[in-house]
Amino acid sequence: MLPVTGAIFTAAAWLVGAQWTAYPPSNTNATYTNPILDGVGADPFVVKVDGLYYMTYTTGTNITILRSPILTDWNTADIKLAFTAVENTSYAYSLWAPELHNIDDRWYVIFTGNVDNESPSPEQDMYCDFNCPAVNHRMFTLESSGSDIWESEYAFKAQLDTYDQFAIDGTYFQHSSGLYHIYSCWHSAYVSWPAMLCITKMSNPYTVSSPLSERLIISKPDEPWEKTPYNRTVNVRLSSNEGPQQLNNPTTNQSFVIYSAARSDNRNYCLGLLELTGPDPLSPDSWTKNNASCVFYQNPEESVYGVGHASFVTSPDESQWWIVYHGMRDYATGWSARTIRTQDFGWDEVTGWPVFPRPGEGPFEVPSGQV
Ligand SMILES: *[C@@H]1O[C@H](CO)[C@@H](O)[C@H](O)[C@H]1NC(C)=O
Ligand SMILES: *[C@@H]1O[C@H](CO)[C@@H](O)[C@H](O)[C@H]1NC(C)=O
Ligand SMILES: *[C@@H]1O[C@H](CO)[C@@H](O)[C@H](O)[C@H]1NC(C)=O
Ligand SMILES: *[C@@H]1O[C@H](CO)[C@@H](O)[C@H](O)[C@H]1NC(C)=O
Ligand SMILES: *[C@@H]1O[C@H](CO)[C@@H](O)[C@H](O)[C@H]1NC(C)=O
Ligand SMILES: *[C@@H]1O[C@H](CO)[C@@H](O)[C@H](O)[C@H]1NC(C)=O
Repeated sequence: MLPVTGAIFTAAAWLVGAQWTAYPPSNTNATYTNPILDGVGADPFVVKVDGLYYMTYTTGTNITILRSPILTDWNTADIKLAFTAVENTSYAYSLWAPELHNIDDRWYVIFTGNVDNESPSPEQDMYCDFNCPAVNHRMFTLESSGSDIWESEYAFKAQLDTYDQFAIDGTYFQHSSGLYHIYSCWHSAYVSWPAMLCITKMSNPYTVSSPLSERLIISKPDEPWEKTPYNRTVNVRLSSNEGPQQLNNPTTNQSFVIYSAARSDNRNYCLGLLELTGPDPLSPDSWTKNNASCVFYQNPEESVYGVGHASFVTSPDESQWWIVYHGMRDYATGWSARTIRTQDFGWDEVTGWPVFPRPGEGPFEVPSGQV
């Protein structure tokens, strides 16, 4: 018999084979350290389904789904290639920030793509206010063939309407009034900066129904900590709001959008907080921004910098909430310094806001119920 390792057993073998003690890998460790995946990784999105964790993140050229029973170690995860960039399309390059959402019993991958590999033609570039490599980024969706996140095949479904303007990091926002698209946007096609957060209404997970006149800017990087360097006064270059992610307080039902601010390629990247405080997500009066400061930010004492682009998931026993994010140690190398990390977080009993920890490398206690 050939020697085998746990990682090559199929899902079916694992599900039927309690005798396969090698998989899932048992983890009796009481602690873990960050990062949780070896190598460069950015824009992690994690979802838990039937006791297993699924992660997708930016690879640039494809959409990969990892599966692991252990939130704090993805190095032995199963790997599924869900999609590969398609030549000569508007999603031929820069497949960024994919996310997996279950809506109406199908899985939707929402992701960013680009037609020109960050090289717009001089004919386009001349219209931009600043150098604008990202001018042709747009949002796209894939749809699963069935209801199973892992066994399904993923096929291209549609581009999301962003009025032929810059769009990255799109996510779904689910509300009693319907489904919305929240993404990083510009004021107009060639303005280049600042990158803000926009919301539009959807009629289904692959169709935006709002006309441009209804598109609402819910946050602009107006605060000193949303610019880079912090307190920048000269112009709005590099000032970003991006990576929006819905987070609901399970006790109070408050709805938040946690987003990334400042700039992703340097140490100032951090998380900001918006709360939906009114009934209509398309009304400017419905959004309240925490204008005071970042809610999660660099920790020089532990050499953790540029923390952002987070998603949220519960511990195996559902008793804790965990933030999965990327951060840097050697921030001088910019984007290539990013690695994927996780820590638990709590909720403020008075305000209902999430209370994020200071980012660190640990060791930290493993998630509650992780075995
Ligand atoms: C458990 O700890 C050992 C020793 O530090 C480490 O090599 C291993 O990767 C850890 N396993 C998990 C699942 O975290
Ligand atoms: C996906 O793309 C990354 C980056 O190009 C590559 O390293 C990886 O091997 C690809 N994954 C698969 C499963 O092909
Ligand atoms: C993409 O476009 C190039 C140039 O027109 C062409 O040579 C190539 O065959 C196209 N590839 C596909 C897959 O259509
Ligand atoms: C911006 O400058 C003011 C005045 O010097 C300072 O108090 C504040 O901490 C700075 N903000 C940030 C985010 O660095
Ligand atoms: C939160 O929403 C759930 C489901 O709609 C409802 O049962 C619960 O009463 C709500 N809690 C609060 C504090 O509004
Ligand atoms: C910050 O937000 C508070 C509460 O919403 C508001 O009262 C205050 O005017 C805001 N400050 C600035 C400078 O926007």
